Amino acid sequence: MTTANKDKLSSARFSQATDAFVEIFTASVDFDQRMAQQDIEGSIAHATMLCTIGILTEAERDSIFQGLEQIKDEIERGEFQWSIQQEDVHMNIEARLTELIGIAGKKLHTGRSRNDQVATDIRLYMRMEINAITAMIGRLQHALLDLAEREASTIMPGFTHLQVAQPVTFGHHLMAWFEMLVRDKERLQDCLKRINIMPLGAAALAGTSYPINRELTAELLGFSRPSANSLDSVSDRDFAIEFTATASIIMMHLSRFSEELVLWASAQFAFIELPDAFCTGSSIMPQKKNPDVPELVRGKSGRVTGHLMSLLMLMKSQPLAYNKDNQEDKEPLFDTVDTLINCLRAFADMVPHIEAKRENMLSAAKKGFATATDLADYLVRKGMPFRDAHEIVGLAVRLGVESERDLSELSLTELQGFSEMITDDVFDILSLEGSVAARQHIGGTAPNTVRAAIQTARAAL
Ligand code: ARG
Repeated sequence: MTTANKDKLSSARFSQATDAFVEIFTASVDFDQRMAQQDIEGSIAHATMLCTIGILTEAERDSIFQGLEQIKDEIERGEFQWSIQQEDVHMNIEARLTELIGIAGKKLHTGRSRNDQVATDIRLYMRMEINAITAMIGRLQHALLDLAEREASTIMPGFTHLQVAQPVTFGHHLMAWFEMLVRDKERLQDCLKRINIMPLGAAALAGTSYPINRELTAELLGFSRPSANSLDSVSDRDFAIEFTATASIIMMHLSRFSEELVLWASAQFAFIELPDAFCTGSSIMPQKKNPDVPELVRGKSGRVTGHLMSLLMLMKSQPLAYNKDNQEDKEPLFDTVDTLINCLRAFADMVPHIEAKRENMLSAAKKGFATATDLADYLVRKGMPFRDAHEIVGLAVRLGVESERDLSELSLTELQGFSEMITDDVFDILSLEGSVAARQHIGGTAPNTVRAAIQTARAAL
């Protein structure tokens, strides 16, 4: 037996050393050391509780605290020696604790298992990251509100089927992105409710025979309550799946933003200028300014959805209770967190510097007969049934297409040729400004309505 294997905390029953490759293959310390602070936090709470029920003396508890504090420092300073032989973050820390404080270190694991320990660590870790992600979404939302305010009365074409449909304001369009993020934040907070439940005390799977006080541990760790079933607590990773699903939705939203930014930054649309600092050139084509940041974000959305699929497949068909399969939950989860935070940050940093090319947006809005619906509505207000109005405006649009003119450029006589109901007040509604200004109801695109929506949103943030 190698020294390392003799040191292994759980190896007394084995007569054979772990195969060297298996040791590497089964180790998770390379990635789960990310949860070291949460592991220590959990151990401090566990030791506190063990002392209150008489399993640890106050001296033992304090020496555990001291040892863990030192380990925390070592980790923060990058001096901690992580070892593959100790398999994972939990055993690495426990082994070091015993090295530092002796016997008391060996008592820490009383009434606990790595199974409930790891489930607790992940939940503590996710709670922290969800708060960071939520704050980053908030930053992006503020950036969107500022830009929307600046562009509240900027007219652009609104699209359906990527064809010019009706004029909208750019501020209104930006507020659509804002709204998606409102729901994303809600989804995260909702998911947090189920994450913030404490598995510790479930031990390996069946609970423990010690008279543990789970309410106390839960309170010390800021969990809303102890979990209700030990088998379920150590095994299910549905909370991680739920988070990854929420992350996938956020990334899906970011990919939609990205797609529009990429299109709009192209010479064909030329609706916006992206800040140089967020674009790169081409190694061969000197004229190029590529929208790399939104393109990368769009690409990274696939990777997060991939992690969601990984976790679903990881959990599928697992019998109760804990299985080693679950060690595979961490890498997808961590990469989801990193990807999400980085993408949100890139957007939050970039959005304030997006420059609207207002003239181009306006002339694009003029091109697609965007006020055709307004003309139909005008005829309806004068008493014509909507279907007839739709038909008549279709004919007017055809004349516009043939003569390459917008509806507002047709003469009154020409328009009256389609319906005698049309009088010279028609030109007020054929203007883009008139069209957007008329949409003043809640959720509408009128500049004043958009400004009011921004005010409401600011107050809610
Ligand atoms: N590293 C393990 C994991 O991530 C910790 C739990 C190990 N438990 C066990 N019985 N082998 O899931």
